[in-house]
Amino acid sequence: MTPTSLSTPALLIEDERFKRNVARMNRQLDRLGVPLRPHLKTVKNIELARRMMADHATGATVSTLAEADYFFAHGIDDLLYAVGIAPGKLAEAAHRIANGMQLSLILDHPDTARAVAQAATEHETDFQVLLEIDADGHRAGFRPDDPSLIEAARILHGGGATAAGVMVHAGGSYGCRDRDCLVRMARQECDVAVAAARELRGAGFGAPVVSVGSTPTALFAEDLTGVTEVRAGVYAFMDLVMTGLGVCDIDDIAISVLTEVIGHRKLEGQAIIDAGWMSLSRDRGTANQAIDRGYGVVCDEIGRLLSPEVIVQATNQEHGILARRDGESLDLGQLPIGRRLRVLPNHACATAGQFETMWLIGADGQAIERLERCRGW
Ligand SMILES: Cc1ncc(COP(=O)(O)O)c(C=O)c1O
Repeated sequence: MTPTSLSTPALLIEDERFKRNVARMNRQLDRLGVPLRPHLKTVKNIELARRMMADHATGATVSTLAEADYFFAHGIDDLLYAVGIAPGKLAEAAHRIANGMQLSLILDHPDTARAVAQAATEHETDFQVLLEIDADGHRAGFRPDDPSLIEAARILHGGGATAAGVMVHAGGSYGCRDRDCLVRMARQECDVAVAAARELRGAGFGAPVVSVGSTPTALFAEDLTGVTEVRAGVYAFMDLVMTGLGVCDIDDIAISVLTEVIGHRKLEGQAIIDAGWMSLSRDRGTANQAIDRGYGVVCDEIGRLLSPEVIVQATNQEHGILARRDGESLDLGQLPIGRRLRVLPNHACATAGQFETMWLIGADGQAIERLERCRGW
């Protein structure tokens, strides 16, 4: 199979760029002296996961139990399920732990801790639980000074589960506009995590794990003293949101969607491609950045930018509308029906999540391997 023979839309991963992105994160964490626990929700594939973990990680992070099962079946035992545990999933989690998976959970509410404690007693399972801490008001987590943090740890302990430590995800870093903000967010993520672990230890809990991470904060952290692991995932593929944040260059984006021109809107000076939101996703992560990239930036078949101006401006389910950001007409002579193009997406995880398989593309532009992607929840 080569890109020219692939049916479109197809998900492509540039091997050289993937390799470069992985090496960059490894260098950064080697410098900081902290191990990686990569978030595998981006790649959802064992070959790429092994390359992310080689020599740098013993455990990984997942966002679904389906990912946990898939990676466990391929030999990765130590898995952090980094979405607040739904009480309804505790029996399933206990079952996996009984089968040898070292599955850790996260939670951020005393009532969830109660449910975990009850399930620990019921299933005779010593659940290892990280207490999620909110560093920036972005999403979930105990505020670091919230007394219910210690209360949750006590409840867990009372039911025979373990408060193994804390975890923070500085999702607020995705809203940064400059380098100083990224450095500050990384500092804040680390400080909040270390302070919360100190609180737990002060209350008599061991709390050995201090887990932080997002791609922007991992790459812009200057010091991670007190942190025991870093979770990052999107760094392996990178995307336009990361480019907009100044975390990477457009040439670092390893992921793209191969598509074909299927129509022209002559009056509007626009072209139609066979990649709509079903393949690109509805993610509009660049909408609030300095440069709004629509649903993605358009490259030629071998990945060279047509022009930073040419974007997928609108999408239907299976149609994408190509247009220029400046409102000028496209040169439709350069976009004949049947021309193959690649679209660089806003959000790698969301776009990759639309596909069951992806194609690894070698330096010579040829597809070298078909990779499966795990699916479901
Ligand atoms: C809990 C948690 N940890 C780590 C990550 C990885 O961050 P990134 O996607 O920026 O690499 C995510 C991403 O959403 C996450 O939700």
